[in-house]
Amino acid sequence: MILNEAYNLAVDKLNIANIDEAEFKALCIVCDIKNIRNSEFALFKNQEISEELEQLFNSKLDMLLSGEPLQYVIGKWDFYESEFFVGRGVLIPRPETEELVELAVKMLKDKQNPIVVDLCSGSGCIGISVAKKIKGSSVYCVEKSSDALVYLQKNAAGVDNVKIINADITKDVDLPLADMIISNPPYIKTSDIEALQSEVLIEPKMALDGGDDGLYFYRVINDLYCKNIKADGSLLLEIGNEQGEDIKEVLNNFESVKVIKDMYGNDRMVVASK
Ligand SMILES: C[S@@+](CC[C@H](N)C(=O)[O-])C[C@H]1O[C@@H](n2cnc3c(N)ncnc32)[C@H](O)[C@@H]1O
Repeated sequence: MILNEAYNLAVDKLNIANIDEAEFKALCIVCDIKNIRNSEFALFKNQEISEELEQLFNSKLDMLLSGEPLQYVIGKWDFYESEFFVGRGVLIPRPETEELVELAVKMLKDKQNPIVVDLCSGSGCIGISVAKKIKGSSVYCVEKSSDALVYLQKNAAGVDNVKIINADITKDVDLPLADMIISNPPYIKTSDIEALQSEVLIEPKMALDGGDDGLYFYRVINDLYCKNIKADGSLLLEIGNEQGEDIKEVLNNFESVKVIKDMYGNDRMVVASK
């Protein structure tokens, strides 16, 4: 079979199974098995694929057909300026979180050797992206899940200014005084979780569940970690699009709490200072 035939076969089967974005997903898996960029497909599409690669292609296609998220099928995903390893047990980095990283980078770029703490790191997409972009920074990534930790460690390999801490943030983790604490904690209301898309439900519940009102982890951060932020430091949070008003009440240890919208015009980020 040539690569183009594999692509066409995947598109057909995904369409028949009513899987969304069939063409894009088919392109991603054929390029993944061949270890090429999607943009290089045209150069390779008439190449024969080995029996071994055909088997790999079939297993990836089966995963997609069974509803597995594309990101888990190919095992990696682009976020900000890097590629992150992902798989079952870790949240897939989202585009809206890139905006949080952009904001953090903007706020940190003129600081000398800033100390940054990323609470609830997951894959490490936030903390590692900041560490790579802000030279001289020291970034502490705190994550409780041992499944997520596997990916966090893999993604942080070779990034010397990242320190990983395997801990539960509800237990007051011992951390240095930070110029910035940044976090995208679980923020979905427990009762809303079952109604999420089936693909999202494959992601770890622990990464999604923000308690009865979705605000549990923001209260923890307000109560336990305000003291870990320098007087001129900042707290940066990702929030759910309906949490903009509530967050101002929750963050009562902070003097100023500003809600910022994402590219779609939804409340999405919070910058707080003491
Ligand atoms: C919404 S995900 C965010 C992951 C990553 N920061 C991102 O933006 O893609 C929240 C993360 O918090 C972790 N988590 C949940 N409860 C935690 C706790 N008590 N202590 C530390 N991490 C926790 C989950 O395992 C998950 O990786």
